[in-house]
Amino acid sequence: MRFRLGPVRFVRSLLRILAGHPHVPPSLQDNALLGILLRRRSVRSFSRAEIPDDVFHAILEAGRLAPSTVNLQSWSFATFTAQSWRSLFERPLPFKAPRAVIIMGDTHRDRQVLDSFPKSPLVEYTIAVVNASLAAMAMTVAAEALGVSSVMLSETGRSGLLDTAYLAERLKAPAGVIPLMTIVFGYTSSPYPPMPPKFPLSTVCFDGTQGYPEVDPALMNDWLAQMVAGYNASHLGSSFDAQLRVYQSKIGQAEADLRRMVFRDDSV
Ligand SMILES: Cc1cc2nc3c(=O)[nH]c(=O)nc-3n(C[C@H](O)[C@H](O)[C@H](O)COP(=O)(O)O)c2cc1C
Repeated sequence: MRFRLGPVRFVRSLLRILAGHPHVPPSLQDNALLGILLRRRSVRSFSRAEIPDDVFHAILEAGRLAPSTVNLQSWSFATFTAQSWRSLFERPLPFKAPRAVIIMGDTHRDRQVLDSFPKSPLVEYTIAVVNASLAAMAMTVAAEALGVSSVMLSETGRSGLLDTAYLAERLKAPAGVIPLMTIVFGYTSSPYPPMPPKFPLSTVCFDGTQGYPEVDPALMNDWLAQMVAGYNASHLGSSFDAQLRVYQSKIGQAEADLRRMVFRDDSV
């Protein structure tokens, strides 16, 4: 795979990114929660400022109170300071953030009292992923409301993609607990980056009675060009191609780890 853009397409794609903005009617723009949701960006550059304990606690509490399937709360959160992260993983917290939370899908805890349910690894895993992701998003939004920025990470620097088995081993997680993502939190050290290229609402949203829409190849090509341009402009010294090659080389191991952990399947 080679994703190279000529100079004209590169500049045009960057301009398209810079022109991106939320579309809400002026009458709703003063809504505080909506403003937080629309302003949130993934932040990858943090100041040295610490997050006070009560602020971090409030962020975790937003996760604890998130909605979940049949109120199963099939999640768990492992919390870290920069120091405790370094002592467990022998490397700095990504982006020099002061705090992190590893979000896990937990299909183990509820089984202690609901073991009469037939084993259904895919159903249980899916439910846990959905629920834990909602808790993760609630934390991210709560953080933003408290002036704390964040980025969700699917890789934390060890294996390069998902890190599922490695994190589970380090966290001494029992079978049925799957690390899903790490959120790092801190105070941004620079203005928020521009909004990355988002699909228009007309691409991802349709009248449910009209049947699922066809994919528009031109729109997808434009989006990909913007992704490449945005990545290359913000990662000097790296490239979109290089990053894709990393994921390509890691995805087999990530798949095998997940099959083993979710399905107890060693065949991949
Ligand atoms: C589950 C998940 C995993 C992610 N993993 C990474 C990651 O490993 N590294 C990274 O820099 N960003 C990661 N991101 C952030 C995305 O790149 C980001 O959300 C996306 O580009 C959209 O940008 P925005 O959050 O500013 O809207 C992840 C986001 C999610 C939801």
